[in-house]
Amino acid sequence: MLVNANSLAELPRLAPYSDRLRIGLRLNPMVATDSPDLFDVSRDDSKFGEPIANADAVLSAIRGFPVTALHVHPSSSMTSVDAAVRAVESVVALAIEANVQACESGNDRRIRVIDVGGGLAPEDPDGTDGSLMEEYARTLRDRLPELWSEFDLVTEFGQWVHFHTGYAASDVEYVVDRADRQVAFVHLGADFLLRDVYVRPRGIRWLPVRGGRAIEGAAQPTDLAGPLCFAGDFLARDIELPRLREGDHLIMLGTGSNALGLWSRHTSRDVPAVVGVDFAGRSLQVLSERFSPFVEPLG
Ligand SMILES: Cc1ncc(COP(=O)(O)O)c(C=O)c1O
Repeated sequence: MLVNANSLAELPRLAPYSDRLRIGLRLNPMVATDSPDLFDVSRDDSKFGEPIANADAVLSAIRGFPVTALHVHPSSSMTSVDAAVRAVESVVALAIEANVQACESGNDRRIRVIDVGGGLAPEDPDGTDGSLMEEYARTLRDRLPELWSEFDLVTEFGQWVHFHTGYAASDVEYVVDRADRQVAFVHLGADFLLRDVYVRPRGIRWLPVRGGRAIEGAAQPTDLAGPLCFAGDFLARDIELPRLREGDHLIMLGTGSNALGLWSRHTSRDVPAVVGVDFAGRSLQVLSERFSPFVEPLG
């Protein structure tokens, strides 16, 4: 198992386990990414990683501790790969420098693994602009062939992998007309989609359903209101959806990442059930029941 120290200060904590773990060191590449401020982990004042500007101290720590991996996670929700590639380049350069020093001093420990983290925003599977992930891999292969020839490459892509693997469903509790739009109240809000509500929409698609079929009809301005007691609890504002009514369902496509895992207890609501869907086998399995984190179920 690979465990990455977040800073030089963590290395003494991990060192005693080096017979059971591969120990890595996370570096802050100090590059400007295009991720939203809240997910930007590569600024000079980031709490993540040892700043790469401290290269001498990092090289000294690699000599002194059983470090055999270097890790960089440039940021999250990036929509361009330039900064990420520069981040990986600087980390690989440092790994090569560490290995040269080890070789020259007769030390046979080497940096063997480069862990490039994750960070790419989810892509539209039906998109026509070409894949950002393919561009990332292609650019890394062109600029850093040694990543494949001299190191083992580890990745940690989160939302790029998982975003499209989950979806959520809620009843439409009721619909009211406010100003120029319909406001549909649903049972999932900022407690479920924290990033979309508090930071920025991530591209979740809203599919209204009635009697098991997608609702057709003229689109009209729509707000999707969540159940929480604050004014900002809207899953989406001013989107175009057909006229909705009480008893409809709203399917939310693209909730496989940074959704239930971030569940917030705001207003003490029940945590929804999770159902696994096997499309090939046409079967459903309840993976976890709906539950209250606060109240024991009644006998
Ligand atoms: C160290 C590390 N690796 C990987 C990830 C996954 O990030 P993403 O979902 O942006 O790919 C994160 C998320 O914050 C992270 O902190």
